[in-house]
Amino acid sequence: MNTLDRIREELKEMGLEGGFFYKPENRFYVSGFTGSAGYALVTMDKAYLITDFRYFSQVGEQCPDFELKEISTQISFGQVLSELGLKKVGFEDDFMTIEDMEVLKSKFSGELVPMKRFIEEIRQIKREDEIELVRKAQNIADDTFSYMLDFIKPGMTEREVHLELVNQMTRRGADGESFTAIVASGERGALPHGRASDKVIEKGDFLTLDFGCIYKGYCSDMTRTISVGKASDELKEIYEIVLRAQKAALEAIKPGAVCSDIDGVARGIISEAGYGDNFGHGLGHSIGLEVHENPRFNQVDNSILKPGMIMTDEPGIYIPGLGGVRIEDLVLVTEDGYEVLSKSDKELIELEF
Ligand code: GLY
Ligand code: MN
Ligand code: MN
Repeated sequence: MNTLDRIREELKEMGLEGGFFYKPENRFYVSGFTGSAGYALVTMDKAYLITDFRYFSQVGEQCPDFELKEISTQISFGQVLSELGLKKVGFEDDFMTIEDMEVLKSKFSGELVPMKRFIEEIRQIKREDEIELVRKAQNIADDTFSYMLDFIKPGMTEREVHLELVNQMTRRGADGESFTAIVASGERGALPHGRASDKVIEKGDFLTLDFGCIYKGYCSDMTRTISVGKASDELKEIYEIVLRAQKAALEAIKPGAVCSDIDGVARGIISEAGYGDNFGHGLGHSIGLEVHENPRFNQVDNSILKPGMIMTDEPGIYIPGLGGVRIEDLVLVTEDGYEVLSKSDKELIELEF
């Protein structure tokens, strides 16, 4: 079933005449429109892309199944909804602001009903073409990581490494970062989300690179922790524990598995090794048009894995005053198990200087 029919099925079940999508990722998923403003409105027998002058020709190219409707400083979205004669319409209750709602209500007197993220639920299962785009985004990240292994030298700042990371992903076809990369060296590795700073990377530091790119709308996400020079025994031991946890969780991924159980596999290994309190985040998340999507690998998400989901597997150990290790792969849930989309080596890399 195509996406529009699937949406209509949900709308019908909710007793709605239509639903509109304003959140950029949903708007793109529904219509193919990449512009930064506009509404994709789906009704039982038609679909409309409602936007302003800047995007008129773009709608023609990107949204052949959608009728263009104009909004402007004179014509509000609420007016368009009213003129279409709609009486009961769904909206994205997780995205629309109270102010947006007030403006809309001033011109539209019909009933507005929360759609409760049903579109995000449809988005959880990736189509073949979506999987290929995530795969490509991940390939760009993997190739970039490989390049960075030759580039990184003691004496560089984290910021310099970040700039090069972004530069190299862009050269390889990325549209941008999927999130601001984490570049954390030495003691800063204990910050799970340490942004690149002016800290100089020293010989003997562990360096965590957590990054990804966007390719044609789709995200990648990977983490590797490397040693800049020879690693100390203490850090090596932590690395091996995280790697064991990461691999064990991977092995447990298959259709029918419960997300919180996968988290438990990695958490169990890290806790048994005595570092349970140093792994303070969930094991992973789904990914697609957004870098963080549902379901999640954490202690409370009891969602069931299904073929076509793409998840991350990213355990970590963070020790204030010492540093940290995180290893993250992208994983596709297949019909009978999993496929790792990340291609970079996971054994500890010690750069030689
Ligand atoms: N730091 C973003 C992520 O790996 O989820
Ligand atoms: Mn990441
Ligand atoms: Mn991640």
